[in-house]
Amino acid sequence: GLPARVRIHEVGARDGLQNEKATVPTAVKAEFIRRLAGTGLTTIEATSFVHPKWVPQLADAEDLYPRISGLPVELPVLVPNERGLDRALALGARRVAVFASATESFAKANLNRTVDEALAMFEPVVTRAKAQGDDVRVRGYLSMCFGDPWEGPVAVPQVVRVCRALLDMGCDELSLGDTIGVATPGHVTALLTALTEAGVPVSALGVHFHDTYGQALANTLAALQRGVTTVDASAGGLGGCPFAKSATGNLATEDLVWMLRGLGIDTGVDLGRLVATSVWMAAHLGRPSPSRTVRALSHQ
Ligand code: HMG
Ligand code: MG
Repeated sequence: GLPARVRIHEVGARDGLQNEKATVPTAVKAEFIRRLAGTGLTTIEATSFVHPKWVPQLADAEDLYPRISGLPVELPVLVPNERGLDRALALGARRVAVFASATESFAKANLNRTVDEALAMFEPVVTRAKAQGDDVRVRGYLSMCFGDPWEGPVAVPQVVRVCRALLDMGCDELSLGDTIGVATPGHVTALLTALTEAGVPVSALGVHFHDTYGQALANTLAALQRGVTTVDASAGGLGGCPFAKSATGNLATEDLVWMLRGLGIDTGVDLGRLVATSVWMAAHLGRPSPSRTVRALSHQ
C-alpha cells in the first residue's frame, strides 16, 4: 500500500542554489524561502555552513539565516564539521544535517576525507547537536547510494554499513541520495529491503533523487511502496552538486506534488503557489524551470 501522507523536504534553496553558476543575492534567497513557506511546505532546507571557498554560492549563510529564522517552518542547514555546527548554533538553528558518502571517491571530492574520516568528523557534530536539547534534530545525508561517477554501481552492503554508522552516532533521520540520478526502481526496492533487514526502521528513511535519467518519480513511487514517507525535492527542479559530474537537478517538487495529488496522498502544498514561486525564481536565474509540471502549468 501507499502512505496517506508524505512530508516533503524542500531542498531548492540549498541543493538547488549551491549549483547555480550565478550567485543569487541574499535578499532573493530570503524571498524565495519566504515564498516557499507560503506554499504549505513545512521543511525548507535553507543553506550550508560549509567552507565558503568550497561552495561560494552559499557563502552568505550568516547573512541569510537571520532573515528567515522567524518563519513558522523547519529550516535545516548543512554542517560538515564542528566549525559548521558552531556557526549554525550561534544563529539558533535547531535542524542540522551532516552529509556522508557511500563511496571513497565522493568522500574525497566533497569532504576531502575518506569515508571513515568523514564519519569521525561527524560524530562530535551529532553528539554536540543532540546535547543542545530534545528539540534538535539531526539528519544524515548519504550520497552515492546507487552509483558513483568515478566508481560506477555502488554495492548495497557498502551503503548499509554507512547508514548504520550514521544511525548509531545518533542521527534521527537518514536521506538516501542518488546524487547522479542513475537509480532505477528495482535498485531502490533492493536497497530499502536490505536496510530493513539490517534493522533500520523505514520511518527513519528519506529519499533524495536527482532526475538526471528521468527516473526520480518512478524511484519515489518504489520508495513509497516500501513505506518511505519523507521525500526530498527541489522547487522547479533546481539543483545538482558541484563536486559530482553529471549531477543535474533534484526531483522537482511540483512533479512530486502532481504525482502525490493524483495518488490521493496529502502533502499540504498549494501547487499553484509553488509553480508561481518557481516561475519567479526562474526569472531571477534567467532560464526556464526544467520541471515538466511547472512548464505545463505556467506560460514561462
Ligand atoms: P578542508 O579543506 O579539509 O578543511 O575541507 P579543514 O578542516 O582542513 O580546514 C581548512 C580551513 O577551513 C580552516 O581554516 C577551517 O577553519 C576552515 P584555516 O584555519 O585554514 O584558516 N573551515 C571552515 N570555515 C567555515 N565553515 C566551516 C569550515 N570548516 C573548515 N564549516 C570541509 C573540509 C568539510 C570544510 C570542506 O570539504 C567543505 O566545506 N565541504 C563542503 C562540500 C559541500 O558543501 N558539498 C555540497 C553538499 S553535499 C550534496 O550536495 C549532496 C546531497 O545533496 C545529497 C546527494 O545528492 O547525494 C546532500
Ligand atoms: Mg543532492
